[in-house]
Amino acid sequence: MSLGSNGNSVNLVDRAKAKVIGAVPLGSSDSETAGRAIREMFTSIAPRYDLLNHLLSFRVDHLWWRRAARSFRPILSQPSSHALDLCCGTGDMAFALLGQSGGSGARILGVDFSHAMLERARQKSAGTSLVWIEADALRLPFPGSRFELVTAAFGFRNLADYDASLTEILRVLKPGGECGILDFGEPKGLVGMVYRVYFRRVLPVIGTMLSGVRGPYCYLPASVERFPRPSEMIERMRQCGFREASWTPYTFGIAGLYRGRK
Ligand SMILES: C[S@@+](CC[C@H](N)C(=O)[O-])C[C@H]1O[C@@H](n2cnc3c(N)ncnc32)[C@H](O)[C@@H]1O
Repeated sequence: MSLGSNGNSVNLVDRAKAKVIGAVPLGSSDSETAGRAIREMFTSIAPRYDLLNHLLSFRVDHLWWRRAARSFRPILSQPSSHALDLCCGTGDMAFALLGQSGGSGARILGVDFSHAMLERARQKSAGTSLVWIEADALRLPFPGSRFELVTAAFGFRNLADYDASLTEILRVLKPGGECGILDFGEPKGLVGMVYRVYFRRVLPVIGTMLSGVRGPYCYLPASVERFPRPSEMIERMRQCGFREASWTPYTFGIAGLYRGRK
């Protein structure tokens, strides 16, 4: 099931104009302080990020990255294509994109504003063609119309201003280029009930214990709860200028892929 052009839409015009919608980590008062708090948070968990990611998702994260990357194979298999993975963290989504390029020679860049996360990406990618750039996703250091594909896996939700970010993605995409945003959702029904107990009660305890850092793994479920529902996110993409905006749920909607075309 996908939510697409005919999915439920929410009139966001008034709300969108009224205030900025984006991540609000504890203690932040505006986009700038939110961005700083997010960067510090990810830097603090960088040493254990991969281990915790795989452990807490029971390694399903690999399937999600691969499935999302596979859906962009037609772009990635073109030798002249340029792909950008935003909020790349330690690089796993970029690795998945590279895996789907089938050795085409497509250029794949990862961007993140946490130096510590990028250091781990660099260590993991020695000998590959992947390139890592330290930059803010809201102010990308690229000219307009540069990329055929822009992705973001589990990072978009953490951006301080969703509409500004969508606009920035649109700016760097070539006309006809595609955007893929993979992020958590909120499954419904029985799966949703079980999942919510795990996500809200078990995951924060284990995450805090193993990372040795208080905060990030309590922020995670809160950030997913605050994130726009698929119908609202699709409408935001449309209002920012994306065509063919859609959402495809992964694993009962625990995660899902938003797509849009410039
Ligand atoms: C949950 S991690 C996701 C990492 C990776 N994409 C993955 O799937 O595992 C979110 C990443 O987004 C980065 N991030 C958040 N806001 C950002 C921003 N404004 N600019 C660049 N990176 C940002 C964080 O530093 C962090 O590495």
